[in-house]
Amino acid sequence: MTNQSTDDHGDIKIRLLLADDLPAVAALHAAAFGPGRFSRTAYRVREGAADVSPHCHVATRATELVGAVSMTQIAVGKVASHWLLGPLAVHSSDTNKGLGQRLITAALQSVTSHATPQATIILVGDLAYYSRLKFEAIPHGQITMPGPVDPARLLIWRGPDGTREIPSGLVHAVGPSSHRI
Ligand SMILES: CC(C)(COP(=O)(O)OP(=O)(O)OC[C@H]1O[C@@H](n2cnc3c(N)ncnc32)[C@H](O)[C@@H]1OP(=O)(O)O)[C@@H](O)C(=O)NCCC(=O)NCCS
Repeated sequence: MTNQSTDDHGDIKIRLLLADDLPAVAALHAAAFGPGRFSRTAYRVREGAADVSPHCHVATRATELVGAVSMTQIAVGKVASHWLLGPLAVHSSDTNKGLGQRLITAALQSVTSHATPQATIILVGDLAYYSRLKFEAIPHGQITMPGPVDPARLLIWRGPDGTREIPSGLVHAVGPSSHRI
């Protein structure tokens, strides 16, 4: 899995998240989102989940962590084969270099290669940004989050060919608790 999930172009490398990265990821999130981040609905979904999961990736320049995308296994309704993408954050000095899209691409490739064939990826974010990577709006009411979310920002990736079925129901995290970031 490691080789397929490593992107080595330029001086910034994309690789899988390791437990040792968690303090730097927490600092990146604090800088990018501020103290209000813990009240966001996507954070609340992640509260019961492990911080290091198979498709999480980071961007590093030498030993410095400059970007990260988290992936949390979720159930939608009773089907636990889906993933929540986020937070996605890139250090402010490295934005607009394509890093965000490289991180998302690594996560999508990882899900394509290693998750179940029906796996989809849900996120809360701007369609204008994520549509570049084949995310689309979810029909209003089909998927609900355990807290307030602007329905126009609730997006889904339906596999590399965009044909996987959109699941229905309430989103909740799957898996054991561990230390939070
Ligand atoms: C949003 C974020 C991850 C983008 O990372 P990035 O590495 O700069 O993104 P990329 O270089 O891959 O893409 C840059 C392009 O996306 C556009 N873009 C960035 N944020 C956008 C947004 N919210 N909506 C629409 N377009 C956006 C840029 O204008 C740029 O457009 P261009 O290619 O036409 O010049 C980064 O700015 C960040 O960490 N922001 C703070 C945290 C945050 O808001 N995270 C997203 C949560 S949903």
